[in-house]
Amino acid sequence: MRVGFVQFAPVLGRPERNLERAEALAPQAELLVLPELCASGYNFESKAQADELAEPAEGPTLEAAKRIARKTGAAVVAGFSEKGLGGNYNSALLADSRGLLGVYRKTHLFENEKDFFLPGDTGFKVWDVAGAKVGLMVCFDWFFPEAARTLAMRGAEIIAHPSNLVLPWCPDSMPVRSLENAVYAITCNRHGEERGLKFIGRSQVTAPDGKILVRAADAADEAKTVDIDPARAKKKTIATRNDRFEDRRPEHYAR
Ligand code: ACM
Repeated sequence: MRVGFVQFAPVLGRPERNLERAEALAPQAELLVLPELCASGYNFESKAQADELAEPAEGPTLEAAKRIARKTGAAVVAGFSEKGLGGNYNSALLADSRGLLGVYRKTHLFENEKDFFLPGDTGFKVWDVAGAKVGLMVCFDWFFPEAARTLAMRGAEIIAHPSNLVLPWCPDSMPVRSLENAVYAITCNRHGEERGLKFIGRSQVTAPDGKILVRAADAADEAKTVDIDPARAKKKTIATRNDRFEDRRPEHYAR
């Protein structure tokens, strides 16, 4: 299965331009991941601006994802600002050429996101894509090992991870998330700067053995793909007598 990411630098408040850029860069694949908030941009000046840039799940980002799916043959994961009933969510959608397959709402909000978004209420979900099980999390969710663990325990073989990373640690941490859960992870980050906030690029695909299969530069538009075998993520044994899930002792994990 060919999977990949489309790293680019969205411009705050220019959704049409940003979606066109993602579309122009998208390569052939079976699963492609775009960055978090890839249409709106990230570092909103005000709640009014955040509200203006929010869209329903069946909105312009979905339409762009469908066009990318038609052009590339891929299912597409894209971060977007979702206009919900009681407020906005920092969401990611999964779509193919026929339409929306599902939406995940970011669970762990980072810094000023707390002024603009409600905490996600979907929980961690897994979908079937081209014969593989794909789970979604968004950016800062990586910092909470429970997110990737929950997705893996719910059957995800690939974690699709749209991001707008600003802290430096994620690229070196995702190999561990992959290794400890025996899953692939596709982190699609953005690069560039918005109103003084710098994003670190370095999108990557990591494998169940913790290897980095492909990694982008820290400050360049880069769309990269790699062939993976999702069946490798079914094997959860660590050694002959150890298993990632069977050996857990949740009775000792309470705070
Ligand atoms: C982040 O969660 N966008 C840092």
